[in-house]
Amino acid sequence: MLLDESEFDVHLKLWVLRIPCQHCKLATRILNGYMLDKPRVKPITEDPTSRKNRYIILSEKVQNQDLSDIPKEKLDELKGLCEIEVVPYSLTLGYSYWSADHVLKQILPAGFEVPSSFETIGQIAHLNLHKELLPYKDVIAKVIFDKNYPRIKTVVNKVGTITNEFRVPEFEVLAGEHDMVTEVKQYGATFKLDYSLVYWNSRLEHEHKRLVSLFQPGEIICDMFAGIGPFAIPAAQKGCLVYANDLNPDSIHYLRINAKVNKVEDCIYAYNTDARKFISQLMEVPTSEVKLECNVPSLNTCESCNTKDDVETSAETALLIVDRKGIGDRNNNSLEDVECPSNHDDTSVTSAKRSSSSSHEENGKTRGTDSFKGSGKRGSQNKRMRGSEFTDTKTWEHIDHVIMNLPASAVQFLDVFKGLIQRKYWKGNLPWVHCYCFIRATETPETIIAVVESALSACIQNPIFHRVRDVAPNKAMFCLSFRLPEACCREDDQ
Ligand SMILES: C[S@@+](CC[C@H](N)C(=O)[O-])C[C@H]1O[C@@H](n2cnc3c(N)ncnc32)[C@H](O)[C@@H]1O
Repeated sequence: MLLDESEFDVHLKLWVLRIPCQHCKLATRILNGYMLDKPRVKPITEDPTSRKNRYIILSEKVQNQDLSDIPKEKLDELKGLCEIEVVPYSLTLGYSYWSADHVLKQILPAGFEVPSSFETIGQIAHLNLHKELLPYKDVIAKVIFDKNYPRIKTVVNKVGTITNEFRVPEFEVLAGEHDMVTEVKQYGATFKLDYSLVYWNSRLEHEHKRLVSLFQPGEIICDMFAGIGPFAIPAAQKGCLVYANDLNPDSIHYLRINAKVNKVEDCIYAYNTDARKFISQLMEVPTSEVKLECNVPSLNTCESCNTKDDVETSAETALLIVDRKGIGDRNNNSLEDVECPSNHDDTSVTSAKRSSSSSHEENGKTRGTDSFKGSGKRGSQNKRMRGSEFTDTKTWEHIDHVIMNLPASAVQFLDVFKGLIQRKYWKGNLPWVHCYCFIRATETPETIIAVVESALSACIQNPIFHRVRDVAPNKAMFCLSFRLPEACCREDDQ
């Protein structure tokens, strides 16, 4: 279907008052309510015959040249001001004048819902056209493109449902540039991405912010399904040390770019592997540790982690040391403070080798007695030091939070935690797990808890459900947060 722009022309036959420039201001005040009132059209314009005059365009309700449609007292006041001349005036409101909504209403058959709103990802407009609108997709895209250019440079429509494991929809470019590399900003961070290759959902911005607000500077975060880094980057910006993984090599490619763009590459370790393998390797105590209980390479030297861009994994490149001195400091944003006041401290601590700079026992406190409440000091500084000084906690000794944002199937990965942590080497509380899931109208939170507990073969204490958003009339996305139960740990002799 082609778009004939001239079809939208509306020709108005109006009257204008030709007035000397110096009287314009007063005249417009007198004529209040009788001048042309159209969005984006100025009612005062130049007189093409003289620079000393202006045209005041009168509204459509002034139909007679004798101005009898204007109240007499206003006319008298006007005539007392100066000599006025009434001139006929033609105005055409064309395609460029009308809004997308107006144009689309005229194009589409009556009763069709007008798709003038869309999701924006940088300069890309993402449409989700209903089946009945597909015959009009090109013309709809052209109108949206024309009306939003240059803010929007590409208009795409989602094709079919998402079936691939990277959760990337298939798109058809309907208007504008075919390049889908774009940039978005969320809460002060910049994210570069190729929308045709990686998962991105702008509607999760609030959730990304909410979860990261629960982390404390200095905490260790493990993101099993990290995408291009909407949790990882802000967490690192906050002073957390982040281990981020995604199966999609393109996601990890952009995660690394984003870590650089946001200047947090020293605080993020990127992995491109399956989530199970990733978390298993993070938690695995290296053989040398078991035998010698002395220095071992930190996890970022792991060779089996196959990142697309050859992630720099040498300990020499790990330039961050985390200041954990303020273990006992409470932060108002902590999960338990906000949502779960009854959460109890159930963890005993087996203290193993630990560097003095990171020891929880330093203040006579341990994570075990400290619960979730701000394991990092509020506003604590992360000192960037040489790799040799990166002596801190290994991931099999402690991590604070695990993020699992793959709502369709994250719970099915939970069984990986069974016997994963070796209690002997672990220091302090077990991690919080933030596992995203969908709950359908036929299900209840208890249904999900049953699945989670069955996967873990353990009961979870004080689970917290946070409703993220409704994804369909009968389906909502939730974040289930719970502390990994002690029963999941592997004891020494196992
Ligand atoms: C719903 S997205 C979430 C991405 C990101 N955390 C966010 O909030 O935008 C899920 C991500 O998990 C990744 N993924 C899917 N299956 C995976 C697996 N088995 N192991 C690791 N990552 C996986 C996908 O590539 C995708 O980037």
